[in-house]
This record gives sequence, C-alpha cells and structure tokens, in this order.
Amino acid sequence: MRLRNIPAAMPAIEESPYCITEAEQYRGKWQSLFPKEQPLHIEIGMGKGRFIMDLARQNPDINYLGIERYASVLYRGLQKFEREENTLPNLFFLCVDAGKLPEFFEPNEVDRIYLNFSDPWPKDRHAKRRLTSHQFLECYDKVLSQDGRIEFKTDNVGLFDFSVEEIDASPIFQITEMTRDLHHDEKMNQGNIMTEYEEKFSSKGNPIYKLIATRR
Ligand SMILES: C[S@@+](CC[C@H](N)C(=O)[O-])C[C@H]1O[C@@H](n2cnc3c(N)ncnc32)[C@H](O)[C@@H]1O
Repeated sequence: MRLRNIPAAMPAIEESPYCITEAEQYRGKWQSLFPKEQPLHIEIGMGKGRFIMDLARQNPDINYLGIERYASVLYRGLQKFEREENTLPNLFFLCVDAGKLPEFFEPNEVDRIYLNFSDPWPKDRHAKRRLTSHQFLECYDKVLSQDGRIEFKTDNVGLFDFSVEEIDASPIFQITEMTRDLHHDEKMNQGNIMTEYEEKFSSKGNPIYKLIATRR
C-alpha cells in the first residue's frame, strides 16, 4: 500500500502519544512502555491497522506493536484509531522499516510476528524485499523468542508458494500449519481476524492462504 505523500503525516506521528518515534531507545526495554509485562506480538506492514487494533482490543493480556514503514499509511491508521478507539493500553505504533528490526529489538524480545497481505514484489530481482524472503527470516531469527512464531496470510499464490519454499529451505524455521483456503478451514479459521486487504480480496472470491512457522 502506498498513499500519496501527506505532509501532515510525519508531524502527527511525532506528536502522537501512540507512536514511538525513537524506537531504538526501547531496544530490550519494550515491556517498560506498557502497563503490564506480558507477551509481545508485532505486525509488520500493518497498513491502516484494523487487524492489530481488533487483536489488541480482544487480547488485553498481550502487548502489541503495529509496524508500518510509510508515514502516510500509518497516519491514516492513526486517524482511524484516534477517531474510533482513542486508547488501548496494550497497543503502540512504529513508523520503521522491518529490515531494521534487530536495531529495535533484542534477541528473544518478540513472541509473535504477523505478516498480512505483504507486498508481493513480483519481479525476481526484488525477491529479497518480500517479507518472507530468507533475508527477512534471518532478521526475524534475531528478535523472535525460542517458542515464538510467524503467522502469514495472503491472497497472492505466487507469494505464498515463494514463502513455503523459503521456509522449507530455511535452517531456522519450519511450517507447522498451512491452508490454501483459510475461510473454509474450520480449524485455522477459528478466531480469524480479517485485515482490510483480506476483506477486499475475499469479497471478490479469492481464496486466502495462511501459514504458521515456528523454529525447527
Ligand atoms: C499490501 S499492504 C497490507 C496492509 C494490511 N496488512 C492488510 O492486510 O490490510 C502491505 C503493507 O506493508 C507495508 N510494508 C511493506 N514492506 C514493509 C517493511 N519492510 N517494513 C514495514 N512495513 C512494510 C507497506 O507499506 C504496506 O502498507
């Protein structure tokens, strides 16, 4: 998702009490940001953030960070949050690139990573930008706890097949659950929270693919 540049976005993010602008200062100390010390789950590429806002509302016993690299996109999410929700003690937002995760998190600091409808980057030469490439898997290895997991959903079969190949070839992660039609998979769809993209693509009849990966 890329919105046209919104000049007001960065100042609004910098002023918002819900956005952390100097994320590296919290490295190893994220729990101090939240009222309660409890597992930390992050979503990379949250877009306008509906998924992570719903999750945080439903699970007060988990701490959440929504990560989005484009200020204009995060700004739209923030406006929605401030309009509809206004505060959730267990949710904050970061405007950073996930390629730098180890600069922001210590080893073992993150318990779960959600990747939803990540950009497919269809050209071969851009494969390393895909959020399930082996380069990103190595990055997740540096921050994810020993029993942590990655949950990935997409409607893009090419990106899904690529992700399965990357994880199957990974010495670090393995696929523990997978479906090629999430909304008709009773077990994996239980408690599923739809993202903005998921609603849009599934309403067109596209199947939704999902996998869960854990450490080998
Ligand atoms: C296609 S949108 C999906 C948005 C949302 N997750 C959903 O399912 O509705 C993917 C989002 O991931 C963000 N993104 C892509 N690569 C990223 C990265 N390296 N770090 C942080 N965000 C990223 C994009 O800016 C975009 O907003």
